[in-house]
Amino acid sequence: MSKDIDSALFRETLGHYPTGVAVVTAVAEDGKPVGMIVGTFSSVSMNPPLIAFYPMNSSRSFAQVRTAKAFCVNVLASDQEPFCRRFASAGEKKFDGVGWRPGPLGSPILDGAVSWIECTFEDVRDAGDHYIVLGRVEDLAVERSTLPLLFFQGGYGKFSPGSFIAAPDPELIQAAHVAETMRTRVEELSVEFGVNCSVLARIRWDAVQVLAVNHSPIEEPFPLGHRQPLIPPFGAVFMAHSPDSDIDEWLGRGPDLGDERRDLNRAQLNRVRECGYSLLAAGPEVLQRHAAVLSAFEQSDRLPRQQRVVQEATSELADFFFTDLIAGGRYDLANIVVLVTTREGMPPMALRMTGLPSGASTEQIKSSIDALKKIAS
Ligand SMILES: Cc1cc2nc3c(=O)[nH]c(=O)nc-3n(C[C@H](O)[C@H](O)[C@H](O)COP(=O)(O)O)c2cc1C
Repeated sequence: MSKDIDSALFRETLGHYPTGVAVVTAVAEDGKPVGMIVGTFSSVSMNPPLIAFYPMNSSRSFAQVRTAKAFCVNVLASDQEPFCRRFASAGEKKFDGVGWRPGPLGSPILDGAVSWIECTFEDVRDAGDHYIVLGRVEDLAVERSTLPLLFFQGGYGKFSPGSFIAAPDPELIQAAHVAETMRTRVEELSVEFGVNCSVLARIRWDAVQVLAVNHSPIEEPFPLGHRQPLIPPFGAVFMAHSPDSDIDEWLGRGPDLGDERRDLNRAQLNRVRECGYSLLAAGPEVLQRHAAVLSAFEQSDRLPRQQRVVQEATSELADFFFTDLIAGGRYDLANIVVLVTTREGMPPMALRMTGLPSGASTEQIKSSIDALKKIAS
């Protein structure tokens, strides 16, 4: 007896099984190259040599692939995620600007793929809303023995070999050394203002806390070594002097909430660049919720679904970041962050002040910013 299976449950459960990502290419009968992404590629038989993949029976790309006498499975490398997005889209222009050469039977072999397997059609069978395509392997090769692109829980990644040795992080060590040279001044500032001061370093796409001195009545929320993913609006200070490509990547690290949100994050970044600091005025409840999400993420395997929770929680802070202080105003600030000037080749670093008194005046905040900037330069 088979019971009705909920489609969301089906997707969620099957999404816990990882796959590789391949582009099935062919030259259709009209002479044009065609291609589609499949995660369902697998090896079937050695003797005779057979492979399989499962196209949707509604796929227009597969309808064209089927008109060819042969097809080629191109296994994508972990640095080819943009290729994946391109070939997973519907449309005619997938091959524009893509380098390829014909295989022995004429099917496109894509530049940069890990490997290719060119096949003739052995069989195409109906299987629910998909086909099962059996391909007879005619020729194949490994082109570039590198890590393949993997797909898991709706996100992309790559295989990481297990090891007893922690990966060395020379940038983190460098940043910790620089933070040590600032320790005395950070201590003095923390005592003078009765606040919590910490030094953060940008290590790839995380802000890592490399020094913390707390003389505020509030307990330090994050331990030394705490990592916070740089997801907009968080990390604008680190992006202030980054190249455009980095900024685009940073803007794309949040959930896709449309152009309006993207413009808001970009505008906020521009203000941070002009002022050299950023302020966060979220209430304790919002902050506690965010801190809990971050702590859970740190203890997790950082899988795509866990990343999405952090993405959403971080992007919810967008309305609480600001730079402009009104004369005579009073603020409940969660933190002030200023960029630290570091030497060429060093990771970008920042100074963060938390544990500020509630209802701080514009004048008090400005003097805190000036004091932070003094150390930071
Ligand atoms: C990671 C990933 C795996 C996919 N796997 C398959 C698959 O196995 N079979 C399939 O038909 N479509 C799969 N797709 C979807 C198609 O690549 C894509 O949506 C389709 O080719 C475009 O629609 P069209 O063929 O109708 O033009 C996958 C997409 C992604 C992003």
